[in-house]
Amino acid sequence: MAAAASSSIAIFLLHILIPTIAFLDGAKSLTSPSDIAALKAFKSAVKPSSIPPWSCLATWNFSAADPCSTPRRAFFTCGILCSADATRVTQLTLDPAGYSGTLTPLISQLSHLNTLDLSDNAFYGSIPYSISSLSGLQTLNLRTNSFSGSLPSSVVSLRSLESIDLSYNSLSGPLPKSLSSLSSLQRLDLSFNKLSGPIPRLPVTLIELAMKGNSLSGPLQKDSFDGLAQLEVIELSQNSLSGTLEPWLLLLPSIQQVDLANNGLTRANIAASPSVADSNLVAVDLGFNRIEGNIPVSLASYPMLSALSLRHNRLRGGIPVEFSKKQTLRRLFLDGNFLSGKPPPAFFSAETAFSGSLGDNCLRGCPAWSQLCVPSQKPVAICRQA
Ligand SMILES: *[C@@H]1O[C@H](CO)[C@@H](O)[C@H](O)[C@H]1NC(C)=O
Repeated sequence: MAAAASSSIAIFLLHILIPTIAFLDGAKSLTSPSDIAALKAFKSAVKPSSIPPWSCLATWNFSAADPCSTPRRAFFTCGILCSADATRVTQLTLDPAGYSGTLTPLISQLSHLNTLDLSDNAFYGSIPYSISSLSGLQTLNLRTNSFSGSLPSSVVSLRSLESIDLSYNSLSGPLPKSLSSLSSLQRLDLSFNKLSGPIPRLPVTLIELAMKGNSLSGPLQKDSFDGLAQLEVIELSQNSLSGTLEPWLLLLPSIQQVDLANNGLTRANIAASPSVADSNLVAVDLGFNRIEGNIPVSLASYPMLSALSLRHNRLRGGIPVEFSKKQTLRRLFLDGNFLSGKPPPAFFSAETAFSGSLGDNCLRGCPAWSQLCVPSQKPVAICRQA
């Protein structure tokens, strides 16, 4: 009797459990088949030897679990996020585990993706053209990988993109001409690639532009920056930009930091303008260019300016007294030019606490006890020649 009772309990339990298991089984296939196919293709393009056992990708086991099913105990523990109904993948954000491989063109099937972040890994090959199908993509972060080839022109059709970070890769060739059609883009970082050619017209929504350490060339054109009313940061150092820095650039309405160091600029034409009174400009770096002429004195009229570098250019003439009296200025680098005359004494008064350098010029009477006068001035013979 007891045995029969216990076996009927067992059967009863089975009747409860089987539908539960079947239900779980149903839950297993919530994720859309095309997303599953895309994730499988994504993982199989990563070299197995580059997937450490402790990494996110190691937990992606398609025969054991559905990618979007929750709770995530043993499988798909990280690397993806899904929509609330667990049918679509919305974020692919990998850990920096050193994954090496290519980015599959099938990534385009993840059509609900808003974030693609593969930063700090070793992905290589080209960025697939098909990426343009990810029409809801807001964040594209492939920073610090080894992607090469050009920035696909199809990227410009991603109208939802707010942030692009492709810095520290090996992308080459020119920037897409219609970059400005990225009508939601606020942050663009393409620094430390091998991009070349001119800067095209930029999206008017930009807040931060960083393209340091490339081979961009040509003059800075007003057309490229037209209407960029929110732009706060320009990082374009270590390129091959040439020509004149025209007044409009420092007069962009929201601009705070401009770094154009290590380029081939030959003039800095910085005009005084009534709008300077409202400027939030705090830092300007024009060091290591080939700028000739006098120090643009109108720079001193920017009310917030706190750091200025004009070091290692070909500037001549005296140091305008306006800079020595400027209360906001904390760092001033004028070294490595051909500046002459006596530096304004206010630089060396007890009240002013400047850091920086006036050294390696043709100045007279720069007091040797002042840190500002290090390194020493150029030899007289060189100054006479110049
Ligand atoms: C994936 O899960 C299945 C079923 O749980 C298991 O047999 C298989 O070994 C797992 N594969 C890996 C690579 O862990």
